[in-house]
Amino acid sequence: MTMPQTTSTGLFDPDLIRRYDKSGPRYTSYPTAVQFHDQFDESAYRAAAARSNAAGGPLSIYTHIPFCDTVCYYCACNKVVTKDRNRAQPYVDDVVLELALQGKLFGEGRAVDQLHWGGGTPTFLSDEQMREIMAATGRHFALKTDDTGEYSIEIDPREADAGTIAVLRDLGFNRISLGVQDFDERVQEAVNRIQSYAETKEVVDAARAEGFHGVSLDLIYGLPHQSGDSFMRTLDTVIAMAPDRLSIFNYAHLPTRFKPQRRIHTEDLPNPAEKLRILGGSIERLQEAGYVLIGMDHFAKPDDPLAIAQRNGTLHRNFQGYSTHAECDMVAVGVSSISQVGGAFSQNTKDLVAYHEAVSAGRLPIERGYVLTDEDQLRRYVISEIISHFRLDFAQVEQKFGISFASHFAEALSELQPMVADELLHLDNNHLEVLPRGRLLIRNICMAFDQYLNPEGLQRFSKVI
Ligand SMILES: C[S@@+](CC[C@H](N)C(=O)[O-])C[C@H]1O[C@@H](n2cnc3c(N)ncnc32)[C@H](O)[C@@H]1O
Ligand code: SF4
Repeated sequence: MTMPQTTSTGLFDPDLIRRYDKSGPRYTSYPTAVQFHDQFDESAYRAAAARSNAAGGPLSIYTHIPFCDTVCYYCACNKVVTKDRNRAQPYVDDVVLELALQGKLFGEGRAVDQLHWGGGTPTFLSDEQMREIMAATGRHFALKTDDTGEYSIEIDPREADAGTIAVLRDLGFNRISLGVQDFDERVQEAVNRIQSYAETKEVVDAARAEGFHGVSLDLIYGLPHQSGDSFMRTLDTVIAMAPDRLSIFNYAHLPTRFKPQRRIHTEDLPNPAEKLRILGGSIERLQEAGYVLIGMDHFAKPDDPLAIAQRNGTLHRNFQGYSTHAECDMVAVGVSSISQVGGAFSQNTKDLVAYHEAVSAGRLPIERGYVLTDEDQLRRYVISEIISHFRLDFAQVEQKFGISFASHFAEALSELQPMVADELLHLDNNHLEVLPRGRLLIRNICMAFDQYLNPEGLQRFSKVI
């Protein structure tokens, strides 16, 4: 007989795990990208940009650099794996062209409060190429030059050293997130990502010496050969480096979509009960070390802006995880990137050739997108509140959207009843409150408010446990 496992976040017996271990979205957007369609074109984006300009306010800019030198087998990001560094310059030229096209749409005067470079591996580019992109961004958008923006970049410590970090600081970046995943050698071998402690430490130390405002580390749980014990060793090493933030992502295993994941042997993966033990143990260990759980997957020190925003009720979820800049529309540049402007999502083509052809012909490289309905806006708000604050105040929703919560969401509320019985959440006439062990199953709770879930669609998402 399998024994139930105890964590301070609750008791999970095998039956309960079986009932909740389904596939579901991570809700970095609502509706999810599954709803995007190709009737959304350049003119729809122009209309969205006009709505965004009419509303005004600061902007957020995301730039995607897809290249990586080697492939990590687990990776679910949009990337191009190549050793040929000559591929970078033509892409940089294309990004500069897209920045000019996008800059024209948004005009002058909208301060860039938030800037993020992600990948792939942004530092696959040379220092000179990174300077070129930042200079073009500054020509076409109102970048802040006083270090008050939140300007962040994703770093693979194997692709950066102290010199790179100094260049990035000079370019205006003030936050970095570093991919670590796991320090255990056996895990690193199984996922083809060999990364020493020394490489990681060098970059963390350099970021501190250069005066970066925040260092964040990414870990993944659910990778091959991980156990509760092995992951706690990685966690202790990470805690000793004292990052300001930590992301502990649930490994999204979708080998039919991401080919390199087929090199990961399913029999080496920890089972759902072990994964819950890793997550529950991590939450406990990090709380002891003084970190606060910020919604799904994310932790921060109590004085970090994310933790403060959570306390103040101003935290929001976006494509990069969580953000304190809800009011910003996000203009995304580069292959596969997703903009969120004027109540619409717009995704660029993932194909480098199609991207080049579009921008060099003066066209925006849009592949698909989606304009949110009023009902989508309402549900997006509800899901974002639950996943950010673990709490929902019905009166607040009624006031904001002019609905009666109980009748509008009658179906969702009845779907939540079994979760109430399982002590994942508390419901009364005025509030929904996620209980400690419900935090581990936050995606299941949000799914009750998602209008678009259907059995075929669900297969596109990873397992929630
Ligand atoms: C877009 S990647 C870029 C980071 C950078 N290239 C690096 O590897 O350090 C950002 C993070 O996504 C996470 N990630 C990638 N694939 C994942 C997967 N299949 N499941 C969960 N998290 C994943 C990893 O933690 C990774 O650090
Ligand atoms: S995890 Fe980072 S380095 Fe590894 S393949 Fe994905 S994007 Fe590239």
